[in-house]
Parts: sequence; structure tokens; C-alpha cells
Amino acid sequence: MTIKNNRRPWIGGNWKMFKTIPEALDTFQELKAGLPDPLQAEVIIAPPFTALSALARVIQDGPVRLAAQNVHWAEDGAFTGEISTRMLVDVGCTYCLIGHSERRHVFGETDNQVHQKLATCLKTGLKPVLCLGETLEEREEGRIQAVIERQLLKAVEGVSPEDMARGVVAYEPVWAIGTGRSATPAQAQEVHAFIRGLLQTRFNKTLALETRIVYGGSVTPDNIRDLRSQTDIDGALVGGASLKADKFLALIKEVNQ
Ligand code: 13P
Repeated sequence: MTIKNNRRPWIGGNWKMFKTIPEALDTFQELKAGLPDPLQAEVIIAPPFTALSALARVIQDGPVRLAAQNVHWAEDGAFTGEISTRMLVDVGCTYCLIGHSERRHVFGETDNQVHQKLATCLKTGLKPVLCLGETLEEREEGRIQAVIERQLLKAVEGVSPEDMARGVVAYEPVWAIGTGRSATPAQAQEVHAFIRGLLQTRFNKTLALETRIVYGGSVTPDNIRDLRSQTDIDGALVGGASLKADKFLALIKEVNQ
């Protein structure tokens, strides 16, 4: 098992808007039965909200942790259809995805909303998984670094190093999500190193060295090893390939070594 600079490997399965409660429970049981032993990696599943409660009961004290896919930024209030950080903690979530590209690009979430959500998560004790990534157009226009810097710095406005240390950063280039076209290991590494540099400038060197930065976007059992071998890639946030337990287990095994 490789622990890079003491960074524990991290892998998350984002189930997006897939799986009923029985389907989520079945996948989890299959997953649990096949987990590597010893399990060094942190393994997270982010099911739809409706399956969180049922999964929390079976996950209990096991090694897999629950994440929510989204949250509202207010602590409570008249926000029909929304879910608060306290509710997520109450239902058993450890992590919450923040600023996933589908939230930003399909639902128009702004950098400022991402910032507010991150701040509320930290206040409530939920660990944020801050998702960053450029579109294809932004990449082709040579604006990758400007976009990542803007997204990251706005999201962490006012956040202390101690709070930031509880979070994970996910680099998910929009053009690689659900397209079958993953970033190459070199492309991903370049942006991961840039993000680590930003964390050092904005916070400090220790925080930068200790923060897990994971890659997401068409991760499969075929490309995970090369991605993971890069210096600054500490794991993966997986969509499609996390829906089937056998595929997700193959990925977990790679990240675990
Ligand atoms: P895919 O793995 O399906 O490309 O999705 C990645 C993702 O959005 C994880 O959050």
C-alpha cells in the first residue's frame, strides 16, 4: 500500500440519481463482502438522499462512510425541497460533495453558493469534498489554471487551515465526466500539482502536503492504476464505474495498494 506523504488513499462512489433503496442495499452488501483486507483506503459511497437512512443502518461501524451528493447552505429555513447539513449529519453522513460539476453546470450553482455550502458543512462537522474542474472550452482556451484558482479560492474564502484539513479536493474536468474520455495521467497530475500549490499559497505547506486530492472523470479499472501512480493523485471520485459492486471493488483494490 502506498501512502504518499502520509496521505491516506481515498475513493468515493458517486451514485448520482441511480438506485432505489433495495438496489442501494444490494450493491452495498456486495461491496462489503468483497472489500480488501486490510483496508487502508478510505471508502465512501454517495447514494441518493432517499437511500441514506437505510444505508446508514447497515453501514454502522464498518469501514465504509457515507457522503451526500449535495446540501443547502442555510442551517435551516423555508427552503422547500432542500436538505440541511444538520439533517445529513443526523442521517449518518460523514462527507458531502460540494460543487459537483453537474450541480454547477446543470443546476447553475455559483462559486459563491459552493463557498456557502462548504462553510456550512464545516460549521456542522460534515467533511466537504470540494469538486473543481474546467469545461472543454475553458481548457481549449488555456484557462484551466484561472478557472481552478477562481473556484478553489472562492470556495475556501474565510476558511481556516484547521477546518480545511478536514476536507478532500476532487479534480473533475467537466469534459471527462460520463464521457468515457478520462484525463490522461499527465493531464490530471498537472492540475493536481497546481491545486496543491494553490493550497500551499492560500493555507500552508503542511496543509498542502496533507490534503487528499482525488481525480474524477471516466475512471475505470483500466485507467485507475496509471492515474493513481501520479505523485499528486491520492484516489478517485467515481461515477459510472461505482454503480456495479464488482467494478467498484476492482477500483478500491487498486487505490488500496
Ligand atoms: P464518471 O465516473 O461516470 O465519469 O463520473 C465522475 C463523477 O462525476 C464523479 O463525481
